[in-house]
Amino acid sequence: MAEIYAIISGKGGVGKSTFTAGISGALVSLGKKVLAVDCDIGLRSLDLLLECDEQVVFDWGDAVLSRCEPSRAVIHGSPDFIAAPRGFEAEFNAENLRELLSAFSEKYDYIFIDSSAGVSRAFETAVGAADKAIALTTADNICVRSCAAACEKARRLGIADLRLVINMFEIRPAKKKKLLNLDECIDETGVRLLGVVPFDRVLAFASVTGIKPDEFSPSDRAFERIARRLTGEDIDLICE
Ligand SMILES: Nc1ncnc2c1ncn2[C@@H]1O[C@H](COP(=O)(O)OP(=O)(O)OP(=O)(O)O)[C@@H](O)[C@H]1O
Ligand SMILES: [Mg+2]
Repeated sequence: MAEIYAIISGKGGVGKSTFTAGISGALVSLGKKVLAVDCDIGLRSLDLLLECDEQVVFDWGDAVLSRCEPSRAVIHGSPDFIAAPRGFEAEFNAENLRELLSAFSEKYDYIFIDSSAGVSRAFETAVGAADKAIALTTADNICVRSCAAACEKARRLGIADLRLVINMFEIRPAKKKKLLNLDECIDETGVRLLGVVPFDRVLAFASVTGIKPDEFSPSDRAFERIARRLTGEDIDLICE
């Protein structure tokens, strides 16, 4: 049976989709069977990050509306992937997504549902279809506050197992008290830390130049460590 995680945040642009792709790839490298599901309805991006956009014919909305067999919505790769619908329909809700994913549950070890930012309808769909959630934040107080609100909403929607990932972290601004330190992020959100992903210049450079990194970058190392922690390995929280 797959463990089904929603990847959530308060503010947008904190790295949910990047994390979903990264953690999924890292778990595949550890030999796990992983399905990544885009639930950013109307604003999908995970197909581009996973570089399979040209293979997308059906999305999970098509499967929910019985326009295709559920298996035809899956693009096989590392990880397997299901695209988000391009727009909202009344049937695109948590109950229907959960039922769809339950049909895949036996085939995978992990299913990651990439949510939209904030506490919108797409967020409720992603969280309601999941058993657990991983909340992403950066270490600025606006982002942390909105992450705390998203976590509170996720709890109200029935998520008891919530973990925190602090993304784009840099130690110097935290030491100078320009940004929050790790303990402050944990205290403000009230969520247990799963891992820390450093600000990765290679990733940032790639996103503005289109030049993909071919080396194993600092964020890749962090994704691997977080993946190992998820599988139950005893790995230190912080690597550098
Ligand atoms: N650790 C990191 N270091 C540097 N840049 C990062 C890091 N994580 C993500 N980014 C960059 O931040 C930008 C936003 O990332 P991403 O699209 O994954 O965020 P998101 O939370 O999914 O956004 P949205 O809320 O719009 O769905 C991208 O340009 C990505 O490359
Ligand atoms: Mg995203």
